Amino acid sequence: MSAKPHPDIERVLIDAASIQQRVQELAAEIDRDYADKPRVLLVGVLKGAFIFLSDLCRALNVPHAVDFMAVSSYGMTATSGAVRIILDLRESIEGKHVLLVEDIVDSGHTLHYLQQVLTSRGPASLRTCALSRKERPEAMGVPVDYLGFTIPDVWVVGYGLDYADTHRTLPYIGVLKPEVYR
Ligand code: PRP
Repeated sequence: MSAKPHPDIERVLIDAASIQQRVQELAAEIDRDYADKPRVLLVGVLKGAFIFLSDLCRALNVPHAVDFMAVSSYGMTATSGAVRIILDLRESIEGKHVLLVEDIVDSGHTLHYLQQVLTSRGPASLRTCALSRKERPEAMGVPVDYLGFTIPDVWVVGYGLDYADTHRTLPYIGVLKPEVYR
């Protein structure tokens, strides 16, 4: 499929076929690692992770359930790292094998915070899966067990990633034209 990218997109960073292939590879890795577990709870972080999670969970063979959390930064604090939960899990994760699923690790604050919160709830295990992680020192310092792609520190949209809640449903990950967000 070689449709022209959306006019707000400067260039396609990861095309749809490469994303789909990587999702299958990640699912195969997860299947292998959880083969001896009765069930894994996939926790998607809204909104961004919903598209990745929906493809990932349908590629898995290991028995699994899906739940969601949503978090928000306090104000526009890209650097403060202050995060709060605005939607929490429906059930306790005590004794469960939990896999936290994110679309992107940018500053790393969200994933770091959620790792701490979920660990404190006593799961049998907690691992993380992120489709992408930016090549920023802060992000690279946050451990990710299953990582799709390392990407440059540019404004990306598509496959769940947004600009002001737009472009999430593009099938590829693209770099946003600077004039769109300036
Ligand atoms: C994005 C993304 C991650 C988070 C990563 O969510 O989905 O959850 O930012 O950024 P960080 O590593 O700097 O913490 P966002 O807050 O944009 O909300 P959204 O998923 O609803 O778009």
